[in-house]
Amino acid sequence: MRGQAASGPRYSQVAIVFHWTIAALVVANLAIGLLHESLLPGTIPLHKSIGLTVLALTAARIVWRLGHRPPPLPAEVPAWARSSAHALHAMLYALMIVMPMTGWAMGSGRDVPRPVSWFGLFDVPPLPIGKAAGRFGHEAHEILGWVMLALVVIHVAAALRHHFLLRDGLLARMGFRAR
Ligand code: HEM
Ligand code: HEM
Repeated sequence: MRGQAASGPRYSQVAIVFHWTIAALVVANLAIGLLHESLLPGTIPLHKSIGLTVLALTAARIVWRLGHRPPPLPAEVPAWARSSAHALHAMLYALMIVMPMTGWAMGSGRDVPRPVSWFGLFDVPPLPIGKAAGRFGHEAHEILGWVMLALVVIHVAAALRHHFLLRDGLLARMGFRAR
């Protein structure tokens, strides 16, 4: 490894656990959302439980993040990459809230609103919204699902570019370190 990120500051353990837990849940939910009608039938109840978990974890992550700045990027990262990374991370945070909220909204704004069973353990009540908001939630959930997929692909491609092409140790900042 060369480059300053290899030996420089890293994300904290809390940030790393939040990142990889939520990343795994989001990837699972993008897959289920897009494949539940073909390869993964009957998985929507699981999708809803995972999505509400992402919502709760992301709310906690954002509150925690407000008091804990991430490690500064190495000086060698150019300005365009710096601002694109910040914009992309902000959009990912927004979608980690908006995707679960619009999903929750789509089952809520109906003639007979449905609670969501969280992994069969307890019921999460429907949101107090009307049918128009429920329809809007459904449309937004479908469109933003594709947007989120595209942003995650770009995000992962950027991480892999740093790892394999630039070889600057940036991915390791977010890696678990053996003690
Ligand atoms: C699955 C492969 C993934 C890889 C390899 C990856 C890699 C990384 C890396 C290396 C960073 C730190 C960038 C830096 O050093 O400044 C990062 C940050 C981040 N990642 Fe990922 N990531 C992945 C998936 C995801 C997913 C699915 C999400 C959520 C949709 C996500 C959301 C974020 C956010 C919001 C940050 C910014 C953290 C902060 O500074 O507060 N990542 N990711
Ligand atoms: C991280 C959170 C979530 C992600 C990334 C996500 C992603 C997706 C995606 C990509 C689809 C496919 C859209 C399409 O048909 O093109 C989908 C469908 C769906 N999602 Fe989510 N979702 C999340 C959370 C939720 C939550 C919390 C609920 C409900 C409580 C939910 C309920 C649904 C339902 C019912 C469908 C099927 C819609 C249909 O086929 O008409 N989702 N989701």
